Formats: sequence, structure tokens, C-alpha cells
Amino acid sequence: MEQRKRVKIRTTLPILPPIESRDEIHTPRLIIRAPRISDVPALHTLRSQPEVMKYSSKGPDKTLEDTRRSLDDLLPPNDSKTYYFLIFQRDTGDLIGRGGLHGISGRTLGWPEIGYSFKPETWGKGYGTEFLTAFVQNWWSLPRREAEIEVDATALDAQELESEVSPSAVERLVAAADVNNLGSRRILEKSGFMAFREWTGPDPREAYKGQQARMVAFACVAPGQETRGGGSKNNMSII
Ligand SMILES: CC(C)(COP(=O)(O)OP(=O)(O)OC[C@H]1O[C@@H](n2cnc3c(N)ncnc32)[C@H](O)[C@@H]1OP(=O)(O)O)[C@@H](O)C(=O)NCCC(=O)NCCS
Repeated sequence: MEQRKRVKIRTTLPILPPIESRDEIHTPRLIIRAPRISDVPALHTLRSQPEVMKYSSKGPDKTLEDTRRSLDDLLPPNDSKTYYFLIFQRDTGDLIGRGGLHGISGRTLGWPEIGYSFKPETWGKGYGTEFLTAFVQNWWSLPRREAEIEVDATALDAQELESEVSPSAVERLVAAADVNNLGSRRILEKSGFMAFREWTGPDPREAYKGQQARMVAFACVAPGQETRGGGSKNNMSII
């Protein structure tokens, strides 16, 4: 297994608003809003489908209670650590997807890490791109605070790593996808992310324990920061 070096850095992170004061995000075809406990039945129809949950660590929900428990991570008091949304079709009001962050420090690279999934009958219609583009815009509009975090060294560029003690780095939003997940890779590219690292490591999914997975990591930076780090072709080892 590849060893990846972690580096302590100074950067910024968003100040997450409490769930009740999170703005809805409206796009031409979607209403993206924070989850509520009353969403459990609709969310269950999404989370119980194997194709939807193929890349999630725990796999599909078996019971309504599994789905209700999954919401516990997102609702108060845990909303201070998560920034997660449900995605509804504007014209039908149907819940068709979900996406956001389960934690401010992502388990793969240390940076905040986004995930998402949609009902199979909606795939290929541009909803993934529409959601991700709007989410990213919302993410960078949140107020920021100074922070010190540990990140994967490969998620920094050479200039940022130069400083010996606690280098500072431009904040990134990252995503990790299986290399074979072409749909996910494509929506990341279309929403302003750039691939910067590929690796083989233990498959993070419970059902594939003991197996290896080939993953690719993507990053994006706030608008206007592209020439100062993560999003810059000049600085980052783009693959
Ligand atoms: C990955 C996922 C979110 C993509 O959402 P989507 O709504 O189908 O994406 P879009 O319709 O916006 O497609 C965007 C682009 O990806 C391409 N694409 C989508 N699915 C694809 C696939 N399976 N293979 C190849 N290309 C694909 C589309 O053709 C489109 O490219 P184009 O604009 O150049 O034609 C969706 O397939 C999904 O929910 N999958 C299951 C969960 C999952 O994989 N989550 C991500 C884990 S990292």
C-alpha cells in the first residue's frame, strides 16, 4: 500500500451555518435544501438502491431505521460538523439526490471532501453537474475562519510545501472517485475541479473489505484563487 505523507498547514475553512439557517440553493431545475426528519421515507427510496449506494462506504440501507440513523449525522447537534443537502426536482418536487460533506476534514485527503448520488432514472440528464456547480458556488460564498489542519502532502503544490514549519496553503474543496466512475469524474471536471492524484489503496467500502481500489482525487479552489495553488495548472501535479 502507498504511504501518503500528512502535513500540518495553515489555511481557511468555512464557518458552517446551523441547519435551520442554511439557505436553499435554487437552480433552473433543482431545489437543494437541508434535510429534515420528515424526509426519511423519500430518502429511503434513494438510499436503498444498490446502484445509488455503490460507492458509499456502508452500502444500501436495508430498513427505514437505517435511513433515519443516517440522518442523525446531519441533524442537530451534528449539523455543526456536516454540510449536507437533499436535491429535489423543481417541477415534480421529487427527491432525486443528495450531496455535500459529512465532515469538515475529509477522511481521504484531510481537506473538506464532497460526495453526492442521484437516482439512476435521472442519470445522464445534467442534474449532477447542475447540483455540483451550484453547491461549489454556495460553498465558496460561506464566511471563512483561519484554521490549522493536516492534509495529504500531495494535495499541496511545491511552493506551498517550501516553508518548513506549518506552511500556509490556499483552501481546497476535494473529491475522491473510483477511476472507473466516469460520470463522477466528468461532473467534477465540468464543475471546475481538477484531477491531481491517482493511487491504489484499500477499498473504503465495507462490502469490499480487503480489496484494493484505484482512486483519483480532484480539487477546486475559490474563484480568484486559481493562480495561487490547488486549481492552478502551473503549480499542481495535474494528471
Ligand atoms: C455520478 C453521478 C452523480 C453523475 O450524475 P449525472 O446526473 O448522471 O451527471 P450528468 O448528467 O450531469 O453528467 C455529466 C457528464 O458525465 C457524463 N456521464 C454521466 N454518467 C456517465 C457514465 N456512467 N459514463 C460515462 N459518462 C457519464 C455525461 O455524459 C456528461 O458528460 P457530457 O456533458 O460531456 O456529455 C450519478 O451517476 C450517480 O449518482 N452515480 C451513483 C453514485 C456515485 O457514483 N456517486 C459519486 C461517488 S464519487
